[in-house]
Amino acid sequence: MKAFEFYNPTQLIFGKGQLEALKREVPKYGKRVLLVYGGGSIKRSGLYDNVISLLKEIGAEVTELAGVEPNPRLSTVHKGVELCKTHQIDLVLAVGGGSVLDCSKAIAVGAKYDGDMWDFAERKAAPQAALPLGTVLTMAATGSEMNAGSVITNEETQEKLGWGSVFAFPAFSILDPVNTYSLPQNQTVYGIVDMMSHTLEHYFHLESNTPIQLGWCETILRTVMDAAPGLVNDLENYELRETMMYCGTMALNGFLNMGLTGDWATHNIEHAVSAVYDIPHGGGLAILFPNWMKHNLHVKPERFKQLAVNVFHVNPEGKSDEEVALEGIQALRDFWNSIGAPSRLADYDIDDSKIDVMADKAVKFGSFGGFNKLNREDVVEIYKASL
Ligand code: NZQ
Ligand code: ZN
Repeated sequence: MKAFEFYNPTQLIFGKGQLEALKREVPKYGKRVLLVYGGGSIKRSGLYDNVISLLKEIGAEVTELAGVEPNPRLSTVHKGVELCKTHQIDLVLAVGGGSVLDCSKAIAVGAKYDGDMWDFAERKAAPQAALPLGTVLTMAATGSEMNAGSVITNEETQEKLGWGSVFAFPAFSILDPVNTYSLPQNQTVYGIVDMMSHTLEHYFHLESNTPIQLGWCETILRTVMDAAPGLVNDLENYELRETMMYCGTMALNGFLNMGLTGDWATHNIEHAVSAVYDIPHGGGLAILFPNWMKHNLHVKPERFKQLAVNVFHVNPEGKSDEEVALEGIQALRDFWNSIGAPSRLADYDIDDSKIDVMADKAVKFGSFGGFNKLNREDVVEIYKASL
């Protein structure tokens, strides 16, 4: 393992009925709350009314920012920063999926910065402070509820960039699986693909002596795969929603990352696709990840074999490592197909016309990938294999 420090200050408040904790947590930070949410799902599910009535009970002064887009946009972040400054907001409260949370993180740091928050995404500056952030999660997928990352789309330049800062950790996150009941089947599938992809990004690393980390990854993958088929046909199953929500958080809250550097190339390659075509992140990952795997199989075939055997139960007898590995990759593809995830860029009507544009965006900060460094040609090959 490489030397590491672990730090995660987010207070995780998990389980049925935990929304009530808002009454205890919000007053710790002040009275003036910016409530941030998306395109209306929380109004339809009744969560909005529940949040508002709890905030009223404690006498909070609520300002609202509605309409955060999936793949949240910089212009929406700007609106939120403006509201924080005008209303002297004490706490940003995000109620929604990863997009709402990521947007709120950007607002929280932007409110304490004199320049444009986009400077952080461009690596021109680093946040030095943030407003406190609380979250109520409605979709199991990104892990944003317990990590320091955020991904924002600059619609003017068609760039989608991730950034991170210790100031972006939520102070608290409330995770009641019941709040994910209303998530439709397709978004549920995208969330499943995303959390599995986060686990795989950690699994493909070059550090030695990481049996615990690999074992945790394998357990998360097997658990998600056991729960997924039942969940996509029974969206209001509490136990399956609970399992999925816990897996989503554990897949990207830093626990899998101790002592190693994951790969993350596929995420970078996907962000370039959703920057140009505004497709769902999980859908893009389902298309790209198996092709990243085939492209990088040669780097450490034994890791791919371990995945195939331990997670996909491929029988290795009489087969080369590469054969076993390829069976595992096919099993991943088959599993994602079986729950309704897309498998080709053509599923989103994406052809080869903008491969160069996307590849340029993917290599904006140079070659990338912790398991194997990819250059522009590698990226083009993976896009072509994904058409
Ligand atoms: O906007 P509303 O009306 O709320 O609807 C949303 C949205 O249309 C809907 N939804 C969410 N919860 C719901 C619900 N509908 C009904 N019932 C519910 N309970 O689902 C749609 C998608 O929501 P979104 O927040 O966009 O999904 P997700 O959580 O997958 O977030 C995706 C964003 O997170 C970024 C992605 O790139 C993408 O921009 N990521 C953030 C990461 C992080 N911060 O660590 C890491 C990830 O790898 C990822 O890149
Ligand atoms: Zn992701």
